[in-house]
Amino acid sequence: MSLKDLLEYRRSVRIYDSEKPIDADKVKDCLEQATLAPNSSNLQLWEFIHITDKNYKDAITDACLGQTAASTADQWVVFVTRQDLHRTRAQFVLNFEKGNIDRNSPAARKAKRIAVRETYYGKLMPFLYSRCFRLMGVFRWLVVTVMGWFRPVVREVTETHMRGVAHKSCALAAQTFMLAMAEKGYDTCPMEGFDSRRVKRLLNLPNSAKINMIISCGIRKGNEGIWGERCRVPFEEVYKRV
Ligand SMILES: Cc1cc2nc3c(=O)[nH]c(=O)nc-3n(C[C@H](O)[C@H](O)[C@H](O)COP(=O)(O)O)c2cc1C
Repeated sequence: MSLKDLLEYRRSVRIYDSEKPIDADKVKDCLEQATLAPNSSNLQLWEFIHITDKNYKDAITDACLGQTAASTADQWVVFVTRQDLHRTRAQFVLNFEKGNIDRNSPAARKAKRIAVRETYYGKLMPFLYSRCFRLMGVFRWLVVTVMGWFRPVVREVTETHMRGVAHKSCALAAQTFMLAMAEKGYDTCPMEGFDSRRVKRLLNLPNSAKINMIISCGIRKGNEGIWGERCRVPFEEVYKRV
């Protein structure tokens, strides 16, 4: 299928065919492809909990408010943001980038490029992602507001903003996953209709982990699998050219 065919094929499926199970290894492969999604500062503050054990079915359906998109699915993937892992992920990326620069940069530029990455991942990222009862965010907001009097700055730096940053990147991974699944002829339904506290308890997730969305997986049940024709507002309403 071409990309356009995949985009047309992918629909939110609400009823899956119980006679058609899917291969967990192929789903895992799609999750690996999802990690190729672009993400903020390449920190990859995400985690994917792939549920294949049918013993979870009733509890996950209950946590997803009884939706048939959850109850009829063969497997489920919980997309989680892990902002709390920012230091270890930043260190991982910094270590990789040092080697990357060493392997691929001209000798004269290596030291400068490494110093820039050290500042970015060693100082700026920890500063941006640190949390302390919203106080760190207020402090960052004050700093960028003053800087903004003199030059363009990124203003979305509060603790709430940074949580949004992690969710944006995770959602891109989720979409990449759904397209990878479509390419295998597998169906999905992204869900935000769930009780996050129950899901976290079920999966033993730490409080700092936030659930981005749950994606149910399976194969659509004929025509009843999807809710009829696709609805989109006229393109002219959302397209602005300047
Ligand atoms: C973040 C997000 C949350 C969603 N939550 C639900 C949900 O809880 N239950 C559901 O049936 N569909 C859910 N959907 C699916 C949307 O309703 C669906 O994408 C939209 O109606 C467009 O249909 P399509 O995906 O078939 O193009 C969600 C979609 C997104 C992106």
